[in-house]
Amino acid sequence: MFANRVLSGMRPTGRLHLGHYHGVLKNWLKLQHEHECLFFVADWHALTTHYDTPQDIEQHVWDMVVDWLAAGVDPSQATLFVQSRVIEHAELHLLLSMMTPLGWLERVPTYKDQQEKLSDKDLSTYGFLGYPLLQSADILIYRANLVPVGEDQVPHIEFTREICRRFNHLYGREPGFEEKALAAIKKLGSKKAKLYQEMRTAYQEQGEESALESAQAILNDAQNLSLGDRERLFGYLEGGGRMILAEPEALLTEASKMPGLDGQKMSKSYNNTIALREDLDSVAKKIRTMPTDPARVRRTDPGNPAKCPVWQFHQVYSDDGVKEWVVKGCTSAGIGCIECKQPVIDAVQRELTPIHDRARQYEESPDLVRNIIADGCEKAQELARETMRDVREAMGLAFN
Ligand code: TRP
Ligand code: SF4
Repeated sequence: MFANRVLSGMRPTGRLHLGHYHGVLKNWLKLQHEHECLFFVADWHALTTHYDTPQDIEQHVWDMVVDWLAAGVDPSQATLFVQSRVIEHAELHLLLSMMTPLGWLERVPTYKDQQEKLSDKDLSTYGFLGYPLLQSADILIYRANLVPVGEDQVPHIEFTREICRRFNHLYGREPGFEEKALAAIKKLGSKKAKLYQEMRTAYQEQGEESALESAQAILNDAQNLSLGDRERLFGYLEGGGRMILAEPEALLTEASKMPGLDGQKMSKSYNNTIALREDLDSVAKKIRTMPTDPARVRRTDPGNPAKCPVWQFHQVYSDDGVKEWVVKGCTSAGIGCIECKQPVIDAVQRELTPIHDRARQYEESPDLVRNIIADGCEKAQELARETMRDVREAMGLAFN
């Protein structure tokens, strides 16, 4: 069996919260035991949107790495590094930019979406347009085949696959491939040959999936092609040369079921978070002051758990027995809300205690964290250099 290489990155947003833990980190903890894993801080990606506040980035990087380690990401199992410290990512980004059609970048859905969402910022920059390409470089430079990401990032992985195929097509071909492919196109007959060429152009320049399918249909229907020519023409559409870069696959991370304190998604921008390194008293206080079913004005008013954010916490943290106790007690006004919240407080505190214990050593000796990252950067750089040797050679830049 082929060993998998997993790669994922996070933008440095500072201290992480329970939403990150339940959504992303628990998944990383599982993966690090199953595969070779590389996890990195995407600090350049932070600059694509926050180029005007660079002073925050460094602190955010270290805070985030400490949270990874505190959550149980194990540097003896996974390689942890910082993107900007492996400058080969930048070289690959530059080289890939030479062959990346602008149209491909402009039609990545996150481009317009984010520009509209972050409308207070001027994101009509070169760097922001290139966000997905930088991400492609992050992935392709390690020839990673599995990329755990949330739903929102899937278009970036699809984009990376297209870039990979285009790269292999342009730079990985057998000698004389182009001539042989052109000769094979002629054998399709002039009408089909013209259609094939048009579809190929539409796919390669606009990334139209439907054009690719039409061209493949033309080949499937063609009676008079030899096996070799047929393969060549399938390859000519998409690549089919030597595999220099490897096509990655998205490993879809299930959306976190962790709600915020107000019942919306837990997010810093909603100010409804419990941080991983939140003090346990503060955790208790935050949960005690959480809103509940607004219909329960008095202790004697019955409530409806379906209308209460605390109930969503019970879904994450409580067993069937406790949940039954909540439903019965709430709907009959048999229990008060403070009483109902206590098992949640206990469970969150129990979850955070080992995280705090692990965090302590890293908080006390920042050098420990810096050494872990220095090691990781070195390991990552070794892998990146190997790929770059092949990439440079393929692109005519092997000078030594
Ligand atoms: N864009 C990703 C995000 O916002 C972060 C990221 C950058 C990433 N490079 C990556 C994720 C490479 C996976 C692989 O979440
Ligand atoms: Fe919410 Fe529990 Fe109060 Fe019912 S008893 S409203 S579920 S906190």
